[in-house]
Amino acid sequence: MTISSSIIQLPDTGSGGPAQPLTVEGRVVHGDERGRTLGFPTANLALDRLGIADGVWAGVASWTTADGVPHSRAAAISVGRRPTYYGGTGIRLLEAFLLDFTGDLYDKQLVVSLQQRIRPQRRFANSDELVQQLQGDVAATRAWAAQNHRHPGDVRRGRFGPVNRKKPSPADYAHMQERRRVNRENRVRDAVAVLAPNEVTHDRIAELSGIPLNYLRWAYSDSLALLAVGCDAGAPS
Ligand SMILES: Cc1cc2nc3c(=O)[nH]c(=O)nc-3n(C[C@H](O)[C@H](O)[C@H](O)COP(=O)(O)O)c2cc1C
Repeated sequence: MTISSSIIQLPDTGSGGPAQPLTVEGRVVHGDERGRTLGFPTANLALDRLGIADGVWAGVASWTTADGVPHSRAAAISVGRRPTYYGGTGIRLLEAFLLDFTGDLYDKQLVVSLQQRIRPQRRFANSDELVQQLQGDVAATRAWAAQNHRHPGDVRRGRFGPVNRKKPSPADYAHMQERRRVNRENRVRDAVAVLAPNEVTHDRIAELSGIPLNYLRWAYSDSLALLAVGCDAGAPS
């Protein structure tokens, strides 16, 4: 495994959330693929030589796709040796569980900023206890993100609607709608890909993709329609 990560900002050691977040950049490497089984797949950066304390944070993971489009997601981030499985002898990894994301980031260059420390690393008695804690970490991250993180391109909303929003032309509007549709379709396809065919339901896809259940029920009449998206090999990814 190549050690390709680097710290690009130093941590503020004050209490609470750091004024200047610790930021790590690196190429996403393979872990043990256990995260998927636990229901928390992570994008992993190798950290062996970097002096970051172990712990769990809420923060943001950002990357750019081949077409130059920037993306970011709020993430629950773990720095440590996975003591539940390896005691003190595991390799040190930064693992980011991206909220509302189901794609593949292997080999992508990822920038991860650690913004709000949640807790220290712990050794759990078993996977069930770890998963229970991860659910709590994700809830804490979601609460942090609701206050602090927006996706690029999000419209900032004031009390009376969008702020500083120019009215799009009909052509722009149609383009935006199409991009949204394609984005949702990709998220459905990603979600279908991690499920067995008999597990594909509107509820499971909504849970995995973050797409509202009402939209899924409106756009896809039944499980067969959802499965058909997963089989559409020619569609853009
Ligand atoms: C938010 C978050 C917090 C974590 N906290 C711990 C922890 O306290 N103790 C631990 O042993 N592993 C912790 N992990 C790491 C998991 O053990 C690891 O993601 C899981 O075993 C999957 O590893 P893999 O990517 O190598 O398959 C955490 C992971 C995440 C995403």
